[in-house]
Amino acid sequence: MPPHAANPNHPFDTVLMSNPLSTQLPHQPLDRRLSVAPMMDWTTRDYRFLARLITRHTLLYTEMVVAQAILHGDRDRFLDFNDEEHPVALQLGGSDPQQLAQATRIAGDYGYDEINLNVGCPSDRVQQGKIGAILMAEPELVARCVEAMQAEVTVPVTVKTRIGIDDQDDYDFLYRFVDRMEASGCTSLTIHARKAILSGLSPKENRDIPPLIYQRAYAIKHAFPHIEIILNGGVKTLNEVHEHMGEVDGVMIGREAYQNPYFLAEADRVVFGDDHAIPSRQTIAEQFLPYVERRYALGHAPKHSLRHILNLFQGQPGARRFRRHLSENMHKPGTTPQVLMDALSRSEEHTSELQSPA
Ligand SMILES: Cc1cc2nc3c(=O)[nH]c(=O)nc-3n(C[C@H](O)[C@H](O)[C@H](O)COP(=O)(O)O)c2cc1C
Repeated sequence: MPPHAANPNHPFDTVLMSNPLSTQLPHQPLDRRLSVAPMMDWTTRDYRFLARLITRHTLLYTEMVVAQAILHGDRDRFLDFNDEEHPVALQLGGSDPQQLAQATRIAGDYGYDEINLNVGCPSDRVQQGKIGAILMAEPELVARCVEAMQAEVTVPVTVKTRIGIDDQDDYDFLYRFVDRMEASGCTSLTIHARKAILSGLSPKENRDIPPLIYQRAYAIKHAFPHIEIILNGGVKTLNEVHEHMGEVDGVMIGREAYQNPYFLAEADRVVFGDDHAIPSRQTIAEQFLPYVERRYALGHAPKHSLRHILNLFQGQPGARRFRRHLSENMHKPGTTPQVLMDALSRSEEHTSELQSPA
């Protein structure tokens, strides 16, 4: 079966196909039933390579890259990615339609499968640059940005947003925003189902304190059946993904995909209906090694890629030893990628100690 074909025997596909709202969607070239959220400093190209060893079909988002950085900075540093990462979406930050258009054109040449605009980040720093959630108050401007970006690429231009900002947090406010996005031609929208509080809360607090209101995203899907609605916020298991899929078109997972990445190993079968054999954690670590070596040969210290594998054994016997060995050694000057194999053998020793009779 081709990777993105619907499998009528699979419960998840049954849910999707029986959801009359999903069948009204125009053709979507990308399968967004499950995605890993854009996360600064976390969803780097190294993390994405690792995540792709765990799941073949989950859509992966980059960290946010500010449009100006692409125009004036080291483009390859911000935009280069590994071929293996597909399907991969770039998230841009900005609010100047011309700058965003230029950045989109440049990024388009790198071969991203989607360009996403950040209208959800609440940090002070980005608010000063008029980037992120603050833009929810200016749907007209966001629409102009989206239109300008769309003119530059053939891949979809999408938007990630919140359900509201500060006291602009009722259904009508979100409805008007989405309505304007639909008119701009945006066909896929990710909604982090909590509002952003723009002053007084840190970005971290803004991911936990404002309550999650999933019903708001569900209601938007009902009101806009022709827009693909992806729900984000607080989802930690594939069971929860399954439940939301009865109401929306897809789910985006952030923190859990980083802090416990191996749970994504079931996603290909459970969400995408691809029954390939699931590699063990050990196998994934071994497959990551040649990548770390490749980056090392290009002059990248192993710690940059290895920090993303620290959580691979989350919840398993030997996980602490693995983590400890890596975090104590990967920062030392002169460390080579071999430190990963050393950490693996530490965790195995522990596992066999646990398994051998006393
Ligand atoms: C470390 C970190 C960095 C983040 N950076 C971004 C970002 O660059 N762009 C963005 O739209 N959201 C960013 N987010 C928010 C996530 O994309 C997501 O919306 C949020 O974590 C809620 O999803 P979750 O509950 O599944 O983690 C970040 C979150 C974290 C934890």
